[in-house]
Amino acid sequence: MEEKLLKGAPVADKITEEVKEYIQKNNIKTALAIILVDERPDSLTYIRLKRKKCEELGIRSFLFTFTRDNPVQHILDLIDELNDNNAVNGIIVQLPLPNTFTDEDEYKILNRISPEKDVDGFHEVNMGKLMLNKDAFIPCTAEGCYELIKHYKIDLHGKHVVIIGSSKVVGLPLSILLLHKGATVTMCNVNTRNIKDITVKADILISACGVASLIKKDWIKNNIVIIDVGINHIIDANDKERIVGDVDFHDVLDKVKYITPVPGGVGPLTVATLMKHVARI
Ligand code: GUN
Repeated sequence: MEEKLLKGAPVADKITEEVKEYIQKNNIKTALAIILVDERPDSLTYIRLKRKKCEELGIRSFLFTFTRDNPVQHILDLIDELNDNNAVNGIIVQLPLPNTFTDEDEYKILNRISPEKDVDGFHEVNMGKLMLNKDAFIPCTAEGCYELIKHYKIDLHGKHVVIIGSSKVVGLPLSILLLHKGATVTMCNVNTRNIKDITVKADILISACGVASLIKKDWIKNNIVIIDVGINHIIDANDKERIVGDVDFHDVLDKVKYITPVPGGVGPLTVATLMKHVARI
């Protein structure tokens, strides 16, 4: 089984080491500002991991928290201040925003961040540049998936990649990135009909839809590569809380060539890629 696992930690450690060397060699002083609206437990966990990694690398980090009923304007005002603050060169807004915020609010907030400080790559300028294959900040989990593929020398050229989930955080930017890297990409989302007819044709299947253990062995062909971006909290048969991916790992294991474990797969790459962006490597 071990030889089938695409583990994220060695890739993330390599990126982190590069960032560390770069920061030390060039004596870089940099800071990341994190904006959190409403204290979701999972968001707090991700932020803790991001700040811990910053500390390890000598990057200062600042956390600004708002409540779910805070006016959007207060957040925009803070972003304006951070945009003007030369000591801060990365600004992120932890997603998702609470449901008291509309899509329009989210759009306004993410687009208020200066594109040069938008280390999450969610600003329309960075998204647009990605579409056109220009140098840009690419959303960290999407870029992290590509780093994983590159590290394990998985050939993309002419390969049929099927991506489940079309969010701007992962699926959508990753589809564009892999298209630029020579893959043939099919995107699926909740509206896709007869999804198995599509996934059985995949050479590489990437799932970022957030449905626990959705993908079973009859969804895939033999010798497939699976990248499971899902992080789903479930209560197992023994009443214990566990994290599982979008893929039923044990069901598909016999058929796959490679698969990312959950946890232990893509997870650490999001933070490592964010650090790379903050350090401007
Ligand atoms: N929520 C889930 N993934 C991410 C991410 O990469 N960045 C931010 N800001 N929020 C997220």
